[in-house]
Formats: sequence, C-alpha cells, structure tokens
Amino acid sequence: MSSTKKRLLTGLQSSGTLHIGNYFGALKPFVDTYRDFDSYLMVADYHALTSVREPEVLRSNVIEVVKDYLAVGVDSEECVIFRQSDNQDHMELGWILNCLVTVPFLMQAHAYKDKVAKGLEANAGLFTYPMLMAADILLYNAEVVPVGEDQRQHLEYAREAVGKFNRAYGELLIEPKELILPSVGVVPGTDGQKMSKSYKNTIPLFGTSEEIEKAVMSIVTDSTGERPENVYAIHTLFKSEAELAPLYEAHKGRYGDLKKLLLADIDAMVAPMREKRATITDDMVKEVLAAGVAKAKQVSNENLVRIRAAIGISL
Ligand code: ADP
Ligand code: TRP
Repeated sequence: MSSTKKRLLTGLQSSGTLHIGNYFGALKPFVDTYRDFDSYLMVADYHALTSVREPEVLRSNVIEVVKDYLAVGVDSEECVIFRQSDNQDHMELGWILNCLVTVPFLMQAHAYKDKVAKGLEANAGLFTYPMLMAADILLYNAEVVPVGEDQRQHLEYAREAVGKFNRAYGELLIEPKELILPSVGVVPGTDGQKMSKSYKNTIPLFGTSEEIEKAVMSIVTDSTGERPENVYAIHTLFKSEAELAPLYEAHKGRYGDLKKLLLADIDAMVAPMREKRATITDDMVKEVLAAGVAKAKQVSNENLVRIRAAIGISL
C-alpha cells in the first residue's frame, strides 16, 4: 500500500443476505475502485447495535459480511479490513465529537428523523450515530469515503464536526469527502420495483442455484409487450445491449427461454464467487480482522494521542 495514495475508508453495516442489487450498486463499484487508494474497510458493528438486539445475529453478521466482500474480490492484502468494535479509539473520538455538536444539529439527521416520523423509538445510540461515523472516518484522516447516496448527509455531518473541532483546538482533523461511485443506478427487482430485501423481490447473490432459479423464473413479465422489460433490465447488467439485441430477437415472445438465458448469465458470474465463498472459514475471517485491526490501530492510536493532547485529556 503506497503512502502516496489518498486514504479511503468506508463502513458497512452488516445487514443480512446480499442480493444482486447490492452487488451492482455497492460491492462491484467498491471492488473496481479500492486499489486506487490506501483503503480501509470497516465492519460497523457498533452502528449495527443501534438496531440489532440478538447477540448471535450481531456476531454472525460480521463474519458473513466479511466473507461476502472477500468472495466478490476484495483482497485482504490490499485493503485493511477490520471490525469497529475491535478498536476502542472510535468510541473515544465519537464521545469527543458528541461534546462539540449540539442536540438541534443532530435532530436534523435523516436516520433519526425517519425513525421518529414512523413513530418508532429512537435510542440515544441512533441519535448520536453521525458522530460515531464521523469518528470512524476522522481517526484515519480518510479523505475519500465511498458511500451510497443515502449517506451523503452523514459526510456533511463529519465535515461539520471537523470544522467545530479545528476551530476549537487547531487544525488537526482533515475534511473527508464522499465518493458516490458511478454505479448502475437502481437495479430492479423481480416485480420491477427497486430490488430491496424489504420488498421481497430479490435475486440472492449467494443463494443456491435453485434459489436463484426460483427468483429469476418469478420475474414479472407483461404479456402484451414485445420484450419482457423486467427480464431485459436485469439482463443488461450482464451483457451489453448489442449482445442482447440478437438474443431477444431470436427468442421474441418466448419469455421462459429468455429467463433461462438470463439465469445462465447470472450463474456464470455467481458460481465462481459462490465457490470461493464456500472455501472461506470463520477462522480465516477472524485472522483477517485481527491483522486488520492491528494495522488500523497503528494509525488511529497515533492520531488519538494528538487529539487528546489538543483537547487537554492528557497530563
Ligand atoms: P436493501 O434495500 O436491500 O435493504 P441496503 O439498503 O442494505 O439494501 O443497501 C446496501 C447497499 O446496496 C447500498 O449502497 C445501496 O445503495 C445498494 N443497493 C441496494 N439496493 C439496490 C438496488 N436495487 N440497486 C442498486 N443499488 C442498490
Ligand atoms: N452509516 C453507514 C451505512 O449505513 C455505515 C458506516 C459506518 C460508514 N461508519 C462509516 C460508512 C464510515 C462510511 C464511513 O451505510
């Protein structure tokens, strides 16, 4: 990892089984980009604790999400992969930042407002979520933070925290910038709406062949159209329009055949990833995380010493 590269950090909340929308929308753009930077990939399990109550789920989600990333092509030799809760520096800087921002400011955060608007009870962890996320980034002087559009506001919050800190204590923290990766846009689900686990319209990335087949065969088609648009839209993720044109011409009106062609293309992409994933053991993940946090701490500890001195938490 060359030090001339800019530092990149992103965090993942481990949120269950991945679908091909997650793959094309988030994982693939990351895999295509992370080698251009000095990259850090963090599993945000303290953030997940704001919504997950089952200890086993919290624990296993960490292992599963790391397996997913390794299986789709993130190389742990080329990226520092670590678990947030293995490095307590995050908690400490999170607290420090909480002491700098105001309650009305945090009340404007989307994640918190959405929960309240739905009549749900927002815990104090959710309320201060943006400052823990800011700490995740600022501890590593990360300049580039790849995130989905929904996280844009959190980056604004992180910059605001930098401003508050630097005005109070001197120019110590670096302003991070979001990198909204060029993705494929919104991947449609089997019913034509956005593919999302909350809509139960997903094609699972690491499902068995049977599960993937069941999902593909269930794609809703419009019997009056020339071309099954939902099938076609998903198919364009795997083949170019020029490649698809003759196929859709040759199988005009035969939706079942077109679904089978799509299935074969999905399988060709997924099968090697699935095989790779099956070889990754829990112990391998634990080793990756242990090596990752050792590297992460080298950077964050050094920064935190400076931060502590600047604010007067050192004698
Ligand atoms: P879900 O909607 O299934 O709950 P998440 O909100 O956990 O998915 O999304 C995780 C990542 O995958 C985000 O970066 C998000 O932008 C991306 N993503 C999710 N669904 C899609 C989709 N249908 N098309 C493109 N990207 C998606
Ligand atoms: N809030 C992010 C999400 O839900 C996850 C996250 C936590 C994160 N810490 C981060 C993302 C630091 C980027 C940088 O997707």
